[in-house]
Amino acid sequence: MPDKLKQVFFDNCMYDFCNFSCAYCRGTPKLPNQNFRVPERERIAQSIAIVDGFVDFGILKLSGYGEITLVRGYESLIDLPGKAKQLITNGSLLLEERIDHLARIPDLTICLSLDGHITRMNHCRTGEDEEKLGRILRTLKYISSKGIPLEINSVLTIYNSSSFGSFLDYLSSEIENFVCFPFPVREFPTKKNSELKPTPQDADKFSRAALSHKYRRYLPGQAYMERLVRFLITRKREWGCYVPHVNIGINPHGDLMACSCGPKEILGNIFTDPESAFEHKARMGKDKVWQECENCFTHYEVLNLFFESSISLGELVRIPTFKSKEVRDKLSRLKPK
Ligand SMILES: C[S@@+](CC[C@H](N)C(=O)[O-])C[C@H]1O[C@@H](n2cnc3c(N)ncnc32)[C@H](O)[C@@H]1O
Ligand code: SF4
Ligand code: SF4
Repeated sequence: MPDKLKQVFFDNCMYDFCNFSCAYCRGTPKLPNQNFRVPERERIAQSIAIVDGFVDFGILKLSGYGEITLVRGYESLIDLPGKAKQLITNGSLLLEERIDHLARIPDLTICLSLDGHITRMNHCRTGEDEEKLGRILRTLKYISSKGIPLEINSVLTIYNSSSFGSFLDYLSSEIENFVCFPFPVREFPTKKNSELKPTPQDADKFSRAALSHKYRRYLPGQAYMERLVRFLITRKREWGCYVPHVNIGINPHGDLMACSCGPKEILGNIFTDPESAFEHKARMGKDKVWQECENCFTHYEVLNLFFESSISLGELVRIPTFKSKEVRDKLSRLKPK
């Protein structure tokens, strides 16, 4: 068998049921059917085993187009030896005993999606429901008290961008060992989200907090924040992207995507013909660009900045996901010389 394909992330998006209906999320979220849970977990486990057989990846990202913590026994999916792991969650179902269990999994980072600490800022996720937001904030504090590294993923909208500094003040006073990852609300073919995009005035106010020395240690690096501010103002991507060449991404059908961040191009199916799918991936041209790239800015931009030498390895490993020695070695090896 040829050498395994070397990649940084395996972005497993097999699961697409959710208990939330966030205003900006793609498609119509579907509520889970109880009977679906066990077969779904087995299928996700199978997808991880198949990819592991073909790809030498550093980080398993368990996210999905839905809420993976709805899958009964999801903890066993994330507990993959020898890999760093990211659990991306809305935080609504993380009871204390679950968090106690997660705290025992090595190299796990919990990436909790939260757009603010008050209902207005978090409007797209929890609406005006104070109790729902309060529960998530208590969960966040409990995760932190257990020493689990945290990344807070925040979608920037008209509701939270101008007061972002107050959110960072809140987080830094309440929790430890975290990095907050802001990124702009995206459009999808089915959902333009135009009414949610921060205005130029919002972007201006956001930039004051984003570029302030005061918050630097809680954010993913100065170069990332500068690029983010620029994108919020211009709304246009003016630089290249390494993401399709260092990430493996699969959709809920097990299709291997050319890029896991939006383009619809499929390289093959990992269940029906994995050899051909991964071969296609290995041969993919380095200069591919899709229409979706023009409006794309995700947290993966830190990887681009690292590969362009605008963020150093030292800066990158401040972010919990990249801390482990295996991931650092992989990043150094994949970085163009
Ligand atoms: C699709 S969710 C799946 C994981 C989990 N349900 C959650 O909300 O964290 C993954 C991430 O995408 C973000 N997201 C959803 N819709 C978005 C949009 N239109 N633009 C940017 N990010 C979005 C969510 O806030 C979350 O951080
Ligand atoms: S962003 Fe996450 S929590 Fe919100 S509807 Fe989408 S999948 Fe569900
Ligand atoms: S810019 Fe976005 S959509 Fe385009 S290749 Fe990069 S991550 Fe994928």
